[in-house]
Amino acid sequence: MTSVPLPPQTTTGTSASAPPAAPTDLPDPTALGLPITDPELASRLADRLTVVDDALSEAVTSADKLADGASRHLVDAGGKRFRPLLTLLTGELGDGAAPGVVDAAVVVELTQVASLYHDDVMDSAPMRRGAPAVHMVWGNSVAILVGDMLFARASARVAELGPEAVILQSRTFERMCLGQLHETMGPDDGEDAVAHYLQVLSDKTASLLSASARLGAMLSGAPKEQVEAVGAFGEKVGVAFQLADDVLDVASEGETSGKTPGTDLREHVPTMPVLLLRRHVASGSATDDDRDLLETLDGDLSSDEVLTAALERLRAHPVLADTRELAVRWAREAAAELAPLPDGPVKDSLEQFAQALADRAV
Ligand code: IPE
Ligand code: IPE
Ligand code: MG
Ligand code: MG
Repeated sequence: MTSVPLPPQTTTGTSASAPPAAPTDLPDPTALGLPITDPELASRLADRLTVVDDALSEAVTSADKLADGASRHLVDAGGKRFRPLLTLLTGELGDGAAPGVVDAAVVVELTQVASLYHDDVMDSAPMRRGAPAVHMVWGNSVAILVGDMLFARASARVAELGPEAVILQSRTFERMCLGQLHETMGPDDGEDAVAHYLQVLSDKTASLLSASARLGAMLSGAPKEQVEAVGAFGEKVGVAFQLADDVLDVASEGETSGKTPGTDLREHVPTMPVLLLRRHVASGSATDDDRDLLETLDGDLSSDEVLTAALERLRAHPVLADTRELAVRWAREAAAELAPLPDGPVKDSLEQFAQALADRAV
C-alpha cells in the first residue's frame, strides 16, 4: 500500500535460504521456543537454559520481604526466554560451556524483565506473561522501583564479566531508555514518522537482542568477525521482532501471547500498522473507510466494544499485511548478516530463528 523504508542493505552475505524440513524422529524443534533442529545442540541449550533459569530465580529473590514477591513475579510467570537462548546459541560459536556465557544469559533476561516492569506502567498494560502486570498488583511506584532493583541486579552480575560487557550492557540500557523516550515523545515536526519509529524499535528492542547475541559470542571466545556478525544480526532481527509484536497487538489472542490484545491501540501507543494507515490517509489516496478507521483509532477506545470493533477492522486492513511483510524483510536482512559465520547448526538455527521471529504467533 505505502512504501516503507527498507532495512539497510548488507554488503556481504546472501538472503536466508528456506529452512530445512524438520526431521520427524527428533524432539520437537520448537520445544525451546527456538527452531533448533540439531538434537545435540538443542539438548545442550536446554540443559544450559535450566542452569540459567535457576540462576534467574536466585537473582530475583530478595531477602527484603517487601520486595520479594514483586521482584520474582515476572520471572516466575514464565516468558519465552528468547534473549538468554540467543546468548546461549551464539555462545556455541566458541566455548559454549564458558561460565561467562550462562552469566550473560542471566544478565540479558534480567534486563528484559526489568524493562517489562517499566514498560507495562508506561503502556498501562493489564497482563504480562499470562499474569497480571506488576503494577496491577502492587501499583506503579512498586513496579518502577522493583524494575530499577532488577536493573541493579543485572549490573552487579555483568560486572563479573569484565569492562567490555559492562560497557555493552550500559549502552544497551541507555538505548532502551532512549527508544522508550522517543516513542513517548513522537517525531519532531516535519520528521518522517515511520523512519522515526524504526529508530525507536531499533533502540528499545533491537539493542537488547543485539547485545544478547554479541555477549554469547564474545564470552565464548568466538572470533571478533563473528561477534560483529551476530551483533548486526541482532540489530535487524530485533526490528523484525518488534514489528511482529506490533502485528500481535492487533492479531493475537490473549491466551497465546499472555498479553491483552489491543493494549497499545487503546493507549494510543504508536505501532507500525497505525503509522502506515496514518501515512496512507495523509497521502490523499485513502478511502472514506480508511479515514473513518483512523479517526476511530485516534478516538476514545476505552469501551471494550469499540476496541474490539476497531481491532477487527485493523486486522482486515492491508496495513497489517504490510507490517508483516516488513517484518519478514528485516528478518531476511538479519539472516544475511550471518554470512561470516561457519556453516553448521548454529548458523542454521540463527537463520531459522530470524524467520520464526518475523512470523511468530506468540
Ligand atoms: C516483550 O518481549 C517486549 C518486546 C520487546 C516486544 P518478549 O515478547 O520476548 O516477551 P517475553 O520475554 O517472552 O515475556
Ligand atoms: C517493549 O515494547 C520494549 C521494551 C520493554 C523496552 P512494547 O511495549 O511494544 O512491548 P509489549 O508489546 O508490551 O511486550
Ligand atoms: Mg508494552
Ligand atoms: Mg511499550
